[in-house]
Amino acid sequence: MWLDGCEYTGGMTTSPVYVLNGPNLRRLGSREPEIYGSQSLEDIAVLVSAEAGSLGLAADFRQTDDESELVGWIHEAVDSGADVVINPAAFTHYSYALRDACAMVTTSGARLIEIHLSNPASREEFRHTSVISGVATGTIAGFGSSSYLLALRALTV
Ligand code: DQA
Repeated sequence: MWLDGCEYTGGMTTSPVYVLNGPNLRRLGSREPEIYGSQSLEDIAVLVSAEAGSLGLAADFRQTDDESELVGWIHEAVDSGADVVINPAAFTHYSYALRDACAMVTTSGARLIEIHLSNPASREEFRHTSVISGVATGTIAGFGSSSYLLALRALTV
């Protein structure tokens, strides 16, 4: 499902960057704010759209709790040759289906940046494993909503 049925798109580029969000991220703002901050996902979508616009990119910002929907969006990105910024949330730690989909992005020559609001490496043991990192172009973690903005910037270098 699209975030509130809306496509937050900034910039003029024809092939937008897919900015994808996994499970429970729609609860940002009220979900463990001491870890994830007080901004809602919609707040972050607005920041992402503005940053993308200022970088001359377009961002297609989406969230789902559904693994199969997320995999389908990655397939779409592969088919359109788009770069991907993804916060896989808990899927980070165990979803081989998502990993295999993400691998298709990078083996096709596009870039995929894994992001996290928190720094999973400094949290519980189960968060220390990312099955996504091994197929990502790079990972940005621990900078709150700025992780999203830094990822967009990384796509411009
Ligand atoms: C997260 C970290 C994950 O471990 C967790 O399951 C999330 C959010 C982050 O952005 O810090 O849902 O991806």
